[in-house]
Amino acid sequence: TWNMDEFVSESIKEIKARVGDKKVLCALSGGVDSSVAAVLVHKAIGDNLTCVFVDHGLLRKYEKEQVEKVFRDEFHINLIVVDAEDRFLNKLEGVTDPEQKRKVIGEEFIRVFEEEQSKLTDIDFLVQGTIYPDVIESGMDGKVVVKSHHNVGGLPEDINFELLEPLRQLFKDEVREVGRLLGISSDIVDRQPFPGPGLGVRCLGELTKEKLDILRDADYIYRDEIKKAGLDKEIWQYFAVLPNIRSVGVTHGERTYKHTIALRAITTKDAMVAKWYPIPLDLLEKISTRITDEVEQVNRVVYDISNKPPATIEWE
Ligand code: XMP
Repeated sequence: TWNMDEFVSESIKEIKARVGDKKVLCALSGGVDSSVAAVLVHKAIGDNLTCVFVDHGLLRKYEKEQVEKVFRDEFHINLIVVDAEDRFLNKLEGVTDPEQKRKVIGEEFIRVFEEEQSKLTDIDFLVQGTIYPDVIESGMDGKVVVKSHHNVGGLPEDINFELLEPLRQLFKDEVREVGRLLGISSDIVDRQPFPGPGLGVRCLGELTKEKLDILRDADYIYRDEIKKAGLDKEIWQYFAVLPNIRSVGVTHGERTYKHTIALRAITTKDAMVAKWYPIPLDLLEKISTRITDEVEQVNRVVYDISNKPPATIEWE
């Protein structure tokens, strides 16, 4: 195995030598890979790096604020945050098919990114958080496409930049270790995977700001309780889903007709096969009660006990 200290110092040297005084752009998603890549490149070339973070309105609660805090305030990286929520939601109006959603989100992301890039001059390099498993996977053919896995950060092909992919030889655990060595907080380095299309594929059916806000609030409570219970590292992926179902309930003797929230928690090695995770019942009850107490538009919470296969991890 690599010595990661050495990897960091060698990479910084290489990036400096390759980039010189030229300008570099990075599409930051806030995920582990792009974050570590950005900080590594920043260590090498400082202010010649500019990061672009697109808020497509499908982010989790406080995600944008966290990215701003870490990259702008802590690391002093040039960061452009694009508020594109309205744009994305307009484009997504009436779109209900999961693959179509991915397509629309992916294309709009590229458009927004290109617009930002065209406002900047003299960009020569583009940072990508490609890691070794991505390199292998993209070489595989004959793969059955269940979901198109559009990774936001999948960028235009006709762009005439040179690619800077400093993590190309690393596995995920090594990327995390590099992140820790670079001083990136555990909130980012140990983050669970989050799909590029974000809450777009967890809010079933048509996407509206109202439904996304309900999901965001419920998902935040769920993640907060899992973290407080110390289960956040043990569960590989856990998130709330808004199945777009309303059902009858009762509050203070009054009939209600409100949304249902589904809770998903799984463990897996590689996301190809997954087992639902048995969250302790008292914790489930606490989460359920908090969600129905604190999220006005929800009167029912259900727990997803499906393995993959036959289910997938995400609901869309
Ligand atoms: P599924 O739902 O296919 O998910 O069992 C397997 C893993 O992939 C993630 N996922 C995505 N990631 N873009 C992404 O970047 C996508 O469109 C996408 N769809 C699913 C999912 O969160 C899980 O970790």
